[in-house]
Amino acid sequence: MTILRIFIFLVLFTVAIGNENLNSHVFPRPLIIEYPENNEPQYYKDDEVQLKCTSWRFAVEANNLSPWKTVPEECAHYVRQYIVGPGYNMDIDRVSDEAVAFANSVNLGADAKDVWVFDVDETLLSNLPYYADHGYGLEIFDSMEFDKWVETGMAPALGSSLKLYQEVLSLGFKVFLLTGRSERHRNVTVENLMNAGFHDWDKLILRGSDDHGKTATTYKSERRNEMVEEGFRIVGNSGDQWSDLLGSSMSNRSFKLPNPIYYIP
Ligand SMILES: *[C@@H]1O[C@H](CO)[C@@H](O)[C@H](O)[C@H]1NC(C)=O
Ligand SMILES: *[C@@H]1O[C@H](CO)[C@@H](O)[C@H](O)[C@H]1NC(C)=O
Repeated sequence: MTILRIFIFLVLFTVAIGNENLNSHVFPRPLIIEYPENNEPQYYKDDEVQLKCTSWRFAVEANNLSPWKTVPEECAHYVRQYIVGPGYNMDIDRVSDEAVAFANSVNLGADAKDVWVFDVDETLLSNLPYYADHGYGLEIFDSMEFDKWVETGMAPALGSSLKLYQEVLSLGFKVFLLTGRSERHRNVTVENLMNAGFHDWDKLILRGSDDHGKTATTYKSERRNEMVEEGFRIVGNSGDQWSDLLGSSMSNRSFKLPNPIYYIP
């Protein structure tokens, strides 16, 4: 009897050791996970505003909220922090990196008909110096005031958009700039773009007198339709508004830059 028990023990022991060796590569994790005590998340009033405003910004960027007129008052501080802190630039860098990777993956046609479309405001040029004086979107948009700013021609480049711009040009894309700015601002826009480091675009399309009163989605779609009729292939499109990207003759891939400051239908 005793000998039998010892025999069974030895058999089980050997099996256990064998399994242990067999599976040793899956074992470095702890078998019991201990959570630190008191791990209930604590929410305070500030966190709640933070969460609400993150949720609002998510809805903005996902285009679930359209149309909206101003930043909600309780999110004024949040949006300002996002814009002047590292978050905004981090988001822009990510969009630009993804766009660069996509641009590099494309086999361009030998006919030089592959196009990358760029919007201008809050895509190539940044109007943050203007919005800093106007509550970062808290104030209702004032087109007269904004036009005065545009006429200064002082808008700086968005750094990572400039990188993308240079990359797509060097890859051999045609670059078309399609902006909601009026034809009245053509000269100052050209001057501003050049001073900010943008050169060698193939077309700069501004709103003509026939385009006034059209939504940006309609105006930009019509201009993209013309590009396609001329035989161009719109491969990439970069813009901070969904109205830069949606509609007809859409690009193969659209790259939406963040903008929680204003909304253009
Ligand atoms: C824009 O510049 C061109 C010359 O580069 C000039 O002929 C034209 O009058 C200017 N337009 C306006 C509206 O200032
Ligand atoms: C763009 O889309 C068209 C139509 O779906 C397709 O034929 C073409 O291969 C696409 N081009 C790229 C670069 O993805």
